[in-house]
Amino acid sequence: MILEIVKYPAPVLSQPGEPVTEFDNDLRKLVADMFETTYASQGIGLAAPQVGVSKRVTVIDLSMGKDPKDKLVLVNPEITFSEGKLYEEEGCLSFPDIREKIVRAARIRIRAQNEHGKWFEMDGDDLLSRCMQHEIDHLNGMLFIFRMSGLKRDLNLRKIRKMQREGTW
Ligand code: NI
Repeated sequence: MILEIVKYPAPVLSQPGEPVTEFDNDLRKLVADMFETTYASQGIGLAAPQVGVSKRVTVIDLSMGKDPKDKLVLVNPEITFSEGKLYEEEGCLSFPDIREKIVRAARIRIRAQNEHGKWFEMDGDDLLSRCMQHEIDHLNGMLFIFRMSGLKRDLNLRKIRKMQREGTW
């Protein structure tokens, strides 16, 4: 089922997600729906707060549905190591049409559970590192617009307010 993606400034986007404690069919249905929603939006990642669910769940698929091996489910993820710097453009499905360069760590290691509750560790670099950091930020109520420089953030907030007035946001 394709879920509705909430846009900034929906309050759920700024709240830290609740840790997941039940690894049941409801969780697996949420994960399946989140993948379907990501593909329908041509995104590479989505966090549960973006579909109005304040839980520490995120899905990532850099292949956008083309390679099942790329499907990644991160439940209760934590970054355990990071190094280096990346400065690349990124976007967010909760901020349609906004793209800006953001500073991220170049390489990270994460620890997370899968949709069955099994803990695993994983390293990511380049685009995967950036995407994991962006999605884990969502689980902490942190949005990419607040990682922009003050000038770019204000410019984009003005752009959003203008679109809201025009009814195009
Ligand atoms: Ni996002």
